[in-house]
Amino acid sequence: MKKRLIKEFTDIFEVPGEALFFSPGRVNLIGEHTDYNGGMVFPCAITFGTYAVVSKRTDSCMRLFSNNFKEKGIIDVALQTLHYDKKDDWANYVKGVLYFLQQEGFEIPCGLNILIEGNIPNGAGLSSSASLEVLTGTILKETFQLPISKLDIIKLSQKAENQFVGMNCGIMDQFIIGMGKKDHAIALDTGTLEYTYAPVQLKQASIIIMNTNKQRGLTDSKYNERRAECEHALSQIQTVVKIKNLCDLKETEFEKVQHVITSPVERKRARHAVLENIRVKKAIAALEKNDIEEFGALMNASHISLRDDYEVTGIELDTLVESAWNQSGTIGARMTGAGFGGCAIAIVRNDDIEDFTAAVRREYTQAIGYEPDFYIASIGDGAGKLAEL
Ligand code: GLA
Repeated sequence: MKKRLIKEFTDIFEVPGEALFFSPGRVNLIGEHTDYNGGMVFPCAITFGTYAVVSKRTDSCMRLFSNNFKEKGIIDVALQTLHYDKKDDWANYVKGVLYFLQQEGFEIPCGLNILIEGNIPNGAGLSSSASLEVLTGTILKETFQLPISKLDIIKLSQKAENQFVGMNCGIMDQFIIGMGKKDHAIALDTGTLEYTYAPVQLKQASIIIMNTNKQRGLTDSKYNERRAECEHALSQIQTVVKIKNLCDLKETEFEKVQHVITSPVERKRARHAVLENIRVKKAIAALEKNDIEEFGALMNASHISLRDDYEVTGIELDTLVESAWNQSGTIGARMTGAGFGGCAIAIVRNDDIEDFTAAVRREYTQAIGYEPDFYIASIGDGAGKLAEL
C-alpha cells in the first residue's frame, strides 16, 4: 500500500513525494463520555489509520487529495484564507489544524502537496477525524521543524474539532492518537492530563472490533447535547459542593448530592459519568493483576450504563453487544467511542473467535437486516513520520 501511495502521489501532483507519515485510529477499552467530565479513559491506538505522502511547494497553497474521497478531486486551500466550508468535507479537519497553528503564531513558510489514504472504516467511530487532525499537525511539525510539542499538537487538534468543525469532543481521541504505544493502552486522567502506559496482555484472548455498519447521522448534535446535559448537572451540583468536574465525585458523594440535579434525565447522565470513571480505575487495576474476567465484567457494566443512563447506544450497538455477551468465548463486550452507531469491542478467547464472529454475524443480520463487520485489533504506535523518500 505504501509503495502504491508513493507512486500515486507522483501521478496526481507530478512531482515526487518527499516523506511518508502515518496516524492511527483508536479504540477505547473503557471510560466512555468521561473525557469532558474530567474523568479517566483507557484507550489504545490501533494499526488501522491514515497515511500521507507529502512534498513541499514553492507557493503558499495547500493541495490536498484523498483516495477515500476521490470524487472531491484536489482540494486547493490558501494558507491565508482558511474557513470552514461544508463542500470541502474531509479537508476541513486539515484546514482547522492549519488555521489554529497559524493563529498560535507558528509560521508555515510554504504550501504542501498532500495525498491521504486511510484504512479506518469510514464513519465507524474509530476516530478517523482525529487521526487526520493529528496527522496534519505531525506533518507540519516535522516538515517545517515547528517548535511545537506533541501535547500541543494534540490540544490544537482538539481545538480544530471543537471550534472549526463544531464537534465539542473531549481530548481522548487526539491524545491517544498522538501518544499511542504498540501493545499498550493509556490510562489518561483527562482532568490533569497525567497518564501512564499499561501493557495490554489478554492471555489467550484478543480484542475484536465489531462494526454495526450503521450510517451515523446526528452523532455530533447528540454528542454536544450530552455534553451540555453534563455541564448543566455539574453547575447544579456546584451549588452544594466545590468540585471542578463531575468525575471528581466518589459514588457516595454523588448519592448525597444528586437530588440537586432537577432534571431526572440529567441525573442519569451525571450518574453514568461518575460511575464510569470509577469503573475505569477498577478496570486498570484488574488488568494490572491480569484479572481479565473482572476487566470483562466492567466492560459489560459500562455498556449497560451507556445504554440505560447515558442513552447513546441504540438498537444496532445493543444487538451487537448483547449477541456478543451470549457467546461462550466472550470475556466482555461494550460499545466504544461516541456511540449512536459506530463500533463495539469484545474480548474473545482466541480459540472461539471463529464461532464468535459466525454467531454474532448471524444474530445481528437477522435482527437488523444487514451485516456487521469484524476486525481483530492490533495495538500500534501513535502518529509519526515513517520515512523520508
Ligand atoms: C468521541 C469523542 C471523545 C469521547 C468519546 C466518548 O470519540 O471524540 O472525546 O468523548 O466520543 O467517550
